[in-house]
Amino acid sequence: MSLPAKVKIVEVGPRDGLQNEKVHVPTNVKIELIRKLADAGLSVIEAGSFVSPKWVPQMADTREVFLSAATSDQVQYPVLVPNLKGLELAIEAGVKEVAGFAAATETFSQKNTNCSIEESLVRQKVVCDEAIKAGLKVRGYISVVLGCPYEGKVDPTVVCDIAKKLFDMGCYEVSMGDTVGVGTPQRTKELFELAARSIPVEKLGGHFHDTYGQAVGNIFASMEVGVSIFDSSIAGLGGCPYSPGATGNVATEDVLYMLDGMGVETGIDMNKLLIAAEYICEHLGRPTYSRAGRAIMSKQRRAA
Ligand code: HMG
Ligand code: MG
Repeated sequence: MSLPAKVKIVEVGPRDGLQNEKVHVPTNVKIELIRKLADAGLSVIEAGSFVSPKWVPQMADTREVFLSAATSDQVQYPVLVPNLKGLELAIEAGVKEVAGFAAATETFSQKNTNCSIEESLVRQKVVCDEAIKAGLKVRGYISVVLGCPYEGKVDPTVVCDIAKKLFDMGCYEVSMGDTVGVGTPQRTKELFELAARSIPVEKLGGHFHDTYGQAVGNIFASMEVGVSIFDSSIAGLGGCPYSPGATGNVATEDVLYMLDGMGVETGIDMNKLLIAAEYICEHLGRPTYSRAGRAIMSKQRRAA
C-alpha cells in the first residue's frame, strides 16, 4: 500500500503534555500555548480534560482554558471526558468535541478510571449516546495497546475488540495509545493490520509515547498500513499520571520533520511550531525533548 499523502496531527500537548506536570501551569500560559499552536496551523488541539480534579489537579481549569483559547473556526478543540459528569461540564462550556477513554488491561483501567474495562465501556456508551444526541463529536482512546506498566504484555485481539466497541458506539475516530511507549514498529504494524480488519483504517489513529525512542518508527510503520492520524505533543511534553515511568508523547516537531521530509501534507509550519515549543519550555524551565526541535533551533542560532 502507498503511504498516505496527507496526515492529520492531533496536538495533545495542552492536555497529555501538561496533565502530569507537578507544578500548576497558570491558566493564561495554557491559553497562550493553544493560541500559538493554532497559529502554527494545527487543526486539532486538545484543550484539556473534564476529569476529577482530585485525580488530575492540573486540568482543573479546563473550562477557563477552553473558553478563552477555543476561538478559531478552523480548529477543533476536543476535551477528554471520563463520564457523564465530564460530558455535562463540557457541554456547559460549549465544547463541540469530546474524547472518551478506555484501557486494554484491567489494572490500568482501575488505576486510571477506578473501574473495570466493562464498566468503562458502559460509561463510554452513555457518554457517546448523550454527546451525539447533543450534537457533539466523540473520539475514542484506548490505552496500553502495546504494553501495560502493570500487566506487561497485552493481547492485540482484546485491544481490537475494544476499538470495535468504541467505533460501534459512535466514536468517529479511535486512537490507539501506546501509553508506556514500549511498542516497536513491527508489532505496531501488526496491531493496526488487525484493527483495520474491523474498522476502516482512515478512522484509526496512533498515539505513541516516546519512552523508548520508538514513536517516529511506529508512526512510519502505521502509515505503511494506511493510518493517517497521529497524536503528538509539542516539545514531547507529558505522560499519563497513571503510567509510571512513561515519558511524553512523541514530539510534534519530530513527527513534522519526518512528514515534511517525506512530502506528506500536514498544514503545519515548523518555524511557528518552534515558537510554541520555545514558549512552553521557557515557562516550564526545561529544554525541549524534541530532537528535531533542538537541531533546527541550534542551526538557526548558528546562522544568526
Ligand atoms: P471516582 O473517584 O471513582 O469518581 O473516579 P466518583 O464518581 O466517585 O467521584 C469522585 C469525585 O470526583 C466526586 O467529587 C465527583 O463529583 C468528582 P466529590 O463529591 O468527592 O467532591 N467527579 C468529577 N469532577 C469533575 N469532572 C468529572 C468528574 N467525575 C467525578 N468528570 C473518575 C472516577 C473517572 C472520575 C476518575 O478516575 C478520573 O477522573 N479519572 C481520570 C484520570 C485521567 O484523567 N487520566 C489521564 C487521561 S487518560 C490518558 O492520559 C491516556 C491517553 O493519553 C491515551 C494513552 O496515552 O494511553 C488518552
Ligand atoms: Mg497519552
